[in-house]
Amino acid sequence: MRYRLFGRTGLRVSELFLGAMTLSDAAETRRIVAAYAEAGGNVLDTASAYGDSERLLGEALAGRGRFPSTERDRFVLASKYTLSRDQQDPNAAGNHRKNLIGSLEQSLRRLRTDYLDVLWVHTWDRHTPIEETLRALDDLVRAGKIRYIGVSDTPAWVISRADLLAEWRGWTAFAGIQVPYSLVNRDIERDIVPLAEHLGLSIAAWGVLDHGGLTGSSRVAEPTERQRRVVAALREVAGELGASPGQVAIAWTMARSAVVHPIVGFRHADRVPDSLAAVELRLPAETVITLEAAAPFEPGPYADFLTESAASPFVFGNSTILGR
Ligand SMILES: NC(=O)c1ccc[n+]([C@@H]2O[C@H](COP(=O)([O-])OP(=O)(O)OC[C@H]3O[C@@H](n4cnc5c(N)ncnc54)[C@H](OP(=O)(O)O)[C@@H]3O)[C@@H](O)[C@H]2O)c1
Repeated sequence: MRYRLFGRTGLRVSELFLGAMTLSDAAETRRIVAAYAEAGGNVLDTASAYGDSERLLGEALAGRGRFPSTERDRFVLASKYTLSRDQQDPNAAGNHRKNLIGSLEQSLRRLRTDYLDVLWVHTWDRHTPIEETLRALDDLVRAGKIRYIGVSDTPAWVISRADLLAEWRGWTAFAGIQVPYSLVNRDIERDIVPLAEHLGLSIAAWGVLDHGGLTGSSRVAEPTERQRRVVAALREVAGELGASPGQVAIAWTMARSAVVHPIVGFRHADRVPDSLAAVELRLPAETVITLEAAAPFEPGPYADFLTESAASPFVFGNSTILGR
């Protein structure tokens, strides 16, 4: 396993993150976390809204029966807040200061720790000013409760505005963006990937296996035409490379942009070695072309127009401009 820096920070994060959303059994959780740690993985991704996940992780990192490699401080332990903790209480959800503090305190109790390495805003809350969210997160960083912050499932323009606000006001800036990304769903190539590359942010990609559908071993009840084509292409490429379809699906997300870290989820520890080996798989250029031909992505007419006009005489006159 290799490591990269998390956004513009100095934090070392492994190429592949462990998704904790589907954890449901204490003994299996300990095995999954141990197998991941032994391979060099160091990022655990959970959330306030993932059922028993935080509690199970807390037990696995602190409890009896813990594997030696799974000491809490060795991990970049990440959780999220936003989603409702009590459907009857409107303030037990959202990105405002009250829910942030209440949710974080609950996460720390469940995870049996007094700090989080990363706290993600789980999803966009259009009713809370981004200034309030950023300032409240910055207070928690200064108070030592969290080390770094990230933002998940939020429009690119909001993230861009947040980055500039943080820089100009001297607040902690988001280091990463968490979004869905796979051969089945390439939408983030339109604006999130260019944004992350421009600002130097990491992308934590979820659903890279389309929730198991791209492994070739889980059966999707009624696959779409696109899912069918992607699985067939993954099988073909996997056969040529002597890899598994899931490994190829994971490796493709990393081949597309150097800022992408796939988050892979497990219920069963015996799946972990196969998926982790994806980080060693280098996809030849012609393989990437085959995969993308099976799952094309159209940015749309407006994006095409912007790309064309950026290189046109309207912008440069007849001069040739070298560089970016
Ligand atoms: N920010 C957000 O809004 C958001 C949303 C969704 C998810 N996430 C994050 O992303 C993580 C991953 O999401 P996900 O669990 O939905 O999707 P996923 O990683 O695309 O798929 C996970 C599924 O793939 C299967 N799998 C993994 N490796 C395999 C292998 N080598 N062979 C066969 N099957 C394999 C697992 O099977 P088993 O269950 O049998 O082990 C599991 O069911 C979550 O845990 C969470 O941390 C974030």
